[in-house]
Amino acid sequence: MTVKDKIETVVLWLKESQFAIALTGAGISVESGIPAFRGAQGLWDKYDPSEYATIDAFMRAPYKVWGMLKELYEITLKAEPNPTHKALAELERLGKLKAVITQNVDSLHQKAGSKKVIEFHGTGETLTCILCGAKYRIEEINLEKVPPFCECGGILKPDVVFFGEPIPLHALREAFELSERCDLLLVVGTSAQVYPAADIPRVAKRSGAKVVEINLEPTPLTNTISDIFIEGKAGEILPLILKAYKTQCE
Ligand code: OAD
Repeated sequence: MTVKDKIETVVLWLKESQFAIALTGAGISVESGIPAFRGAQGLWDKYDPSEYATIDAFMRAPYKVWGMLKELYEITLKAEPNPTHKALAELERLGKLKAVITQNVDSLHQKAGSKKVIEFHGTGETLTCILCGAKYRIEEINLEKVPPFCECGGILKPDVVFFGEPIPLHALREAFELSERCDLLLVVGTSAQVYPAADIPRVAKRSGAKVVEINLEPTPLTNTISDIFIEGKAGEILPLILKAYKTQCE
């Protein structure tokens, strides 16, 4: 099947579907200038996740971990949604896509206009004091000197899920309810290696949904869970799907 044929099939499935959703990962924000975690130029090439991405590492060495967080915030706070975020938002606006479950913490889906976004790994928008639990918004924080401190003297931690921390309960529940309910799942820009997020396509498939995967390279889902794998940049493929869908539906 050529990419064109695959896109035509996906558009047909979109038209037929009653409840389509998407699962997104770091790959979709690469075209907004935010590095992914795995693969060439991935963040975990530069920073060992056992030293920078676990909750134990944060508690043990918050100054060191905040060095990486500061670098990431400097990139993400300037980043803008790209054609993938925009196409997914438009599919929702058209009534076709019912929700996006994202592993990303960069808020670019919301910036693009998506309304129903489940942030499976939390958000970088807010921070919590590890001592008193006070909440802050990122705009209130001066990132020149890190780590940032709460008024009470405690260190602030972004509300993103570190390894060893639970998935926010409301996001976990909603994501798995949606996976069981959907009849079409678009899996875009995730290596599908981190659980429980990587179970979402499996649950959707088991519940009878069609699974479409868009990625630069095959993943553990390819040829096992995915009904169609489209190899390429999400920022090129998603707008093609949207355009073909709109042409056929308008
Ligand atoms: P990864 O960095 O593991 O995977 C990104 C995927 O996107 C890879 O499979 C790439 O091939 C693909 N990719 C890169 N650029 C792309 C593009 N332009 N178009 C399409 N695909 C592209 O990111 P995630 O799967 O999101 O969790 O990682 C999952 C979790 O691991 C993250 O949420 C984070 C991380 O550790 C925590 O920190 C808890």
